[in-house]
Formats: sequence, C-alpha cells, structure tokens
Amino acid sequence: MLTGKNILLGISGGIAAYKTPHLVRLLKKAGANVRVLATESALKFVSELSLSTVSQMPVLDDIFTADADGERTMHISLGEWADALVVAPATANTLARFSSGLCDNMLSLSFVTLRPGKPVLLVPAMDGYMYDSPSVQRNLSVLKAQGCRVLEPESGPLASGQCGLGRMPEPETIFEALSSIFAARESAALEGRTVVVTAGPTREKIDGVRFLSNYSSGKMGFAIAAAAARRGATVRLVSGPVTLPTPPGVERIDVESAAEMLEAARPLFDGCDLFIGAAAVADYRPEAPVEGKIKKNEAAMVIRLVRNPDILAEFSTGRKPGQLAVGFALETAGGLEYARKKLTDKQLDLVAFNIYDGSRSGFEVDTNVLTLLGRDGSITELPLLSKEEAAGRLLDAIEKLPPR
Ligand code: PMT
Repeated sequence: MLTGKNILLGISGGIAAYKTPHLVRLLKKAGANVRVLATESALKFVSELSLSTVSQMPVLDDIFTADADGERTMHISLGEWADALVVAPATANTLARFSSGLCDNMLSLSFVTLRPGKPVLLVPAMDGYMYDSPSVQRNLSVLKAQGCRVLEPESGPLASGQCGLGRMPEPETIFEALSSIFAARESAALEGRTVVVTAGPTREKIDGVRFLSNYSSGKMGFAIAAAAARRGATVRLVSGPVTLPTPPGVERIDVESAAEMLEAARPLFDGCDLFIGAAAVADYRPEAPVEGKIKKNEAAMVIRLVRNPDILAEFSTGRKPGQLAVGFALETAGGLEYARKKLTDKQLDLVAFNIYDGSRSGFEVDTNVLTLLGRDGSITELPLLSKEEAAGRLLDAIEKLPPR
C-alpha cells in the first residue's frame, strides 16, 4: 500500500522520538520514500545521524534549507511532493502550532503547505495530564475538524514516572494506521465510476495462419484495470490476445484485431466515465487477408496495408462532457513532443509517455518508466516502477485532473 508513496515524517520533541528511526525503517522497507522533518527539540531526543542514515536523506530542520536547485522554497516543494504527513510524536506544542497555522519551523510550515486532500496522521504523545488539558483537546478538535486523523495515545508507564494515557503507540501500529488510510482512500476513490481499459496487442490477419502484431503482453493495461477495480470502479477491460488472468472484479472482453477491439469498445463508450487506452493497437492491417495459407511461390511478396480505426480518438472526439480520455504514447527514443502531439491531436486529458528500452520499460517487462502529460500542461516524471505501482500513480494523476 505504501510502495512509491512519498511520506513526510514530522518528529517533535518528546521522549517517544527515540522510536522514530524504527518507524522510518518500516516505511522504507515497505517501499515508501521518506523525508524527515524534525523540530529543534526533537533532535535532543533522537540523533540527526540515526534519522538521516535510515531515511537515506538529510533531516530537514531548517526553514532556510535550499533544495537541489539552490532554491530556498523547499517547504513549498515538500508540500507538493508529499502523499501524506505523519507526525510522531506530536507534542502539545506542535499541535498548538498546527491548529493556529503558525509557520515558525520546517514542520509547521510543511503542514501549512501540504496540498489539500493529502492525509495527515497525528500521533500525540505526552504526559496524561497534558493530553487531557482543555488546550490540547481543543487543538485536537480543531485539527480533526480540518480532516487530520489522530492515532490516540496508549496507556502505560510514562516518562514522568506516572502510569496513564499518553504513550506513543509502537511504530508498527503507526505504520498500520498509515497503511489503512491509504487502503481506504484507494478503495473508495473511484466508487460509482465506470472505467473502460484497452490492453494488449491486436493481431491483424495476413492469412489463415499468420498475422501482424507487436510485443504487448497486456501487463500494463491489466494492472490499470486491477488498480481501478481496487479503487471501487466498475471496470470493463477490452483485451487483445494475452495470457494473463482476469483481475478480480473486472469484466473482460477478449478480441483479436483492432476492428474487433473497436466493435467491443464502442458500446461501452456511452456509459463510461474514464476511458484508458493502454492497448498497443496495430496502426495498419493487411487490406485483403487471405482465407487459407499463402503458398511461398514467389521470391518476394508485397502485402498492402491500410489504416486501422483509432479507438481512443473515436471515444475522445465524440464523448460527452465529464468523460475523461487517457492514452499512452510509446516511443523508442526521445519523443516527448510526439506524446504532446497525441495529447492534442486525440484531444486527451492525459497521456502517459512510455519509453520502450527493451529491458526495463515498455513491452513485456514487469516494470515501466512513464512521464505523465496533463492537458493542463502538467508534467510528472515517474521513476522506474513495477507496472502495478505505475498503474496506481497513473490513477492518482487522473484523480487530480480538473473536471471537464
Ligand atoms: O502490454 P505491455 O507488455 O505491458 O506493454 C505496455 C504498453 C507498452 C503496450 C503500453 O504501456 C503502451 O504504451 N500502450 C500504447 C502503445 C502504443 O503503441 O501507443 P500508440 O502511440 O500507437 O497509440 C497512442 C494511443 O492511442 C494509445 O493509448 C493506444 O491505445 C491508442 N490507439 C492507437 C491506435 C489505434 N488504432 N487505436 C487506439 O486506441
């Protein structure tokens, strides 16, 4: 659930801060990217060296830290970068800063610059009397009303020598809480939506035993269909000939040629909210396929090809307001400008520019490198990801598109 997610871990100054390197470890092990934001007092309880070592990134504790380009607006880019903010331990002081909108350290500043809708998980930990105080409870109510989730403290021995409510839950519990937030978001995000996905290659008949095709395995399209179904969508998958099992909860229609793909997809156009063309549809087909097997009588043979219909373009140019159209653009080198042209020519909302490098990205392999170009001019370069992760990131980007 956390693979590829960008997590900001805020640490404020409480004794429980000593447990946070273990939390970083759990997040990293799950495949998350972690940036640690520590307050000055947090670094009295846990060392910067431990945190930077386990997160493999410098700890951010200074508002005026410059980013990689030398810009001093790191707090703004972090707010953009983060998929979630977790604050553990969240002290009374940090809760007060957050609830009043103060921006006097890197953590409080990043809380304010976090993009709307991104989950915030607060893990308060302090003495029981402090926790029960009207000030802390008021600040927590304000933050809950703003949409922050609060993982309640546990009871047990406290640093004050007393026993009571206020202990920070173990890192495993915090990790589980964060995972379930993402799971719940994922399961609900496309509830009530209908998504049509095309996947795999098409086969264009030359004769009774031969065809023109390409190396598409269907993995990318099937991963998208599976991810959309997990997010609650009704998913219809129109697939060329592949050997993959149907993802759970997905309705599959198998086809062979581009013409059959269009014939199967067309009746689905009207009722779909989102059409994603991940199929590698053959651009051309033999003009006059032969019924039996062509005999090899000649030294050379010429097969005249004619253009196939463009399924995605037919959907996008004839669609109703509100329907979204997303395509892929596969290139063997360079090609961002071709992808941009496809975005415009096919009137798409988003195009996933897909490099085919023959080893890690493109056809057949389990991984992919995508650059997502939005109709709003946005460009998101994704790193090398499994096709499952890439599918999740593609859907995240689609969910962020402004309505049409
Ligand atoms: O199946 P895998 O092995 O996992 O590989 C995944 C993939 C490389 C096939 C996939 O990620 C991908 O890039 N698919 C599109 C490949 C492509 O050839 O695109 P294109 O540039 O020809 O077409 C652009 C878009 O129009 C695509 O969304 C395509 O589905 C759509 N199209 C194209 C032609 C056509 N006649 N009808 C279409 O709908």
